[in-house]
Amino acid sequence: MTPPQHDVLTIETIPVEACDDGTVVALVTINRPNKLNALNADVTSAMKDMVAWAESEDSVRCIVMTGAQPLEPEEGKRSKPNAFVAGADITEFLGAGSEEITTKFTDNAIEALWNMSKPTIAMVDGFALGGGLEVACSCDIRIASSRSKFGTPEINLGLIPGYGGTQRLVSLLGYGKALEMVYTGEMIDASEAHRIGLVNHVVEADELKTKAVEMACLIASKSSNTLRVAKQTLRSALDEGLTEGVATEARAFAGLFDTEDKEIGVKAFLNREKAQWKHK
Ligand code: COA
Repeated sequence: MTPPQHDVLTIETIPVEACDDGTVVALVTINRPNKLNALNADVTSAMKDMVAWAESEDSVRCIVMTGAQPLEPEEGKRSKPNAFVAGADITEFLGAGSEEITTKFTDNAIEALWNMSKPTIAMVDGFALGGGLEVACSCDIRIASSRSKFGTPEINLGLIPGYGGTQRLVSLLGYGKALEMVYTGEMIDASEAHRIGLVNHVVEADELKTKAVEMACLIASKSSNTLRVAKQTLRSALDEGLTEGVATEARAFAGLFDTEDKEIGVKAFLNREKAQWKHK
């Protein structure tokens, strides 16, 4: 159960009060606040470890991804801004060629996060730029503080998003809005991000952790098996056409009728009791 700990990525397990079976939410913090939590090779390697651990650990039922808060500034220095993640670490790009980048970006940590079978939430407080926005877009749900800012500034480096951003932004925002963000590299604030569907909720910074953990605990209290089927089935809507997708849903829905948790859930409703899931 002990989660892997890295200097650049810490994992806190939070018990889910509604469950008395050891169910936890994993709060995962990318921890490079002096570099606005930019994704270097250490962070992405630690993220892959985290994904492997969270997938294998049965008690972990939902994952919340966030960035470390700024540290107290050294004497005479200005404080760093709040950041979720301000992108891939740009220092690793200088002099890099296509071969090195292809190796680095194939089977990358953001794809591992996207492919998790368990529900994921991005808890964004501050800059979510470039690879940082792509981490957020690889989570199932995004909750942001009102002071957050979002953007794909890669165009200003002569680049485009490389962690799946071009694809996932189109599915979240639509083609036109995604192109505008990628073409201009301009940042948008949290209320605009909410308006265009990039984030699910915007709350004040001091309410952010409560809101994100509450939602994670609520989700974690459901049947993990049903959640997994729900994620797979909704995901198929992104990859399949409507006809094929509806057929996929029909199979998934019918399949759930052979599970223990469907009988448990239906009986609990009829008996006005709380469902005690078997997660099967
Ligand atoms: N990669 C590496 N280092 C980064 C970084 C990144 N993506 N983003 C920020 N940093 C570092 C800065 O170099 C700086 O380090 P230093 O204090 O050792 O010099 C530190 O984080 C703080 O950033 P700074 O630029 O001083 O903060 P700011 O408040 O002036 O500006 C931003 C904040 C987010 C506007 C600015 O940092 C920025 O534009 N970052 C890059 C965003 C980007 O292009 N991301 C896409 C990468 S593909």
